[in-house]
Amino acid sequence: MAHSLPWNVGIGTSILASPGRLGSLTPMREMLEARRPLGRSGLTVPRIALGCGNFGGIGSAPELFGQGLSEDQAFALMDAAWESGISHFDTADAYGGGRSELSIGRWIASRGVRPQLTTKTYNPMAAGADHGLRPERIARQLSMSLERLGVDRVELYLAHDFDPEVPLAESFSALDQAQAEGMIGTYGVSNFGPARLAAALAAGAPQAVQNSYSLLDRADGGDLLALCAERGVAYLAFSPLAGGWLTGKYRRGEPFPAGSRMTQRPEPYRAFVSGPVFDVLGRLQAIASSRGTSMAALALAWLLADERVTQVVTGPGRPEHLAPVREALRHPLTDEDRAAVERALG
Ligand SMILES: NC(=O)c1ccc[n+]([C@@H]2O[C@H](COP(=O)([O-])OP(=O)(O)OC[C@H]3O[C@@H](n4cnc5c(N)ncnc54)[C@H](OP(=O)(O)O)[C@@H]3O)[C@@H](O)[C@H]2O)c1
Repeated sequence: MAHSLPWNVGIGTSILASPGRLGSLTPMREMLEARRPLGRSGLTVPRIALGCGNFGGIGSAPELFGQGLSEDQAFALMDAAWESGISHFDTADAYGGGRSELSIGRWIASRGVRPQLTTKTYNPMAAGADHGLRPERIARQLSMSLERLGVDRVELYLAHDFDPEVPLAESFSALDQAQAEGMIGTYGVSNFGPARLAAALAAGAPQAVQNSYSLLDRADGGDLLALCAERGVAYLAFSPLAGGWLTGKYRRGEPFPAGSRMTQRPEPYRAFVSGPVFDVLGRLQAIASSRGTSMAALALAWLLADERVTQVVTGPGRPEHLAPVREALRHPLTDEDRAAVERALG
């Protein structure tokens, strides 16, 4: 791969290279490279990020550290994402107990490219290890993340969850300091509802919130997205396919496919195993088929059509799973499709 064009002046001094092959700015690549403001930070991010939560584990669950994608599989996925024009990777210190950041760091070093990076802290790095948002812990975890990633700065650093034991202002002072020292571009929060985000905005200057948002999890569509719009906070949607449910891979009355997320980490999605959800999925599948796309592409297109959604953090398990991203960009929702999708949700 060739990588030498500086492509983004919005992220300060990081040395970045253009993803994919140079000189082939197809409409698809242009869409993937279109950027949105990251709150009022002055930074920008692309609309689609590669979620790296499956590298060396399934998210931050200690009992699954060492599982998920092997490093070779993670490299294949990062190569495919980068080649297709995805230039922002999302990880966390605790994903795979550090394995996700390590794999990204080794990939960056071996490929000689630099994607834009989000990482996070809150969860323990091993069963029984410490967790939370104490200022000293944030400082320690951030420097260990930078070491694993092999970079001297990440563009976005998130508090991965709310810590009831530490005042937000104390955590944010550690993040302000990290920003002043150039270790992070800006900071935000994750898994915060509207009341906690309002409290966070009173305690500091988070520029982004990253939460679950999809056709099967629309709680943020009301007050939270309205608050983000009002206060200029970037909204980053994770689990856009509801952990795979919006691909149609889980079928009424049938066993979960071998090796699928429901066989590995089913807890967050148990509520989806219900008649009404399968009914909704059936209606969404019919709409997708009538548009000539996959249901996954319909689900991604629904998010991309919402101007309030700054970035969609996808979670492909292998290179082929990137196909719905391309489909979604190629087939944006019309107002009519959007109305049909919303009627299908019941
Ligand atoms: N801030 C947070 O607390 C938080 C929480 C969760 C996730 N995240 C971030 O968001 C990213 C995405 O979350 P997510 O993994 O839940 O996203 P998702 O896209 O909703 O689900 C990803 C899963 O769906 C399945 N899948 C994806 N594309 C598919 C396709 N085309 N065909 C069939 N199956 C497909 C795969 O499951 P199988 O394993 O079954 O193949 C994959 O592991 C994570 O990697 C992480 O970076 C953040």
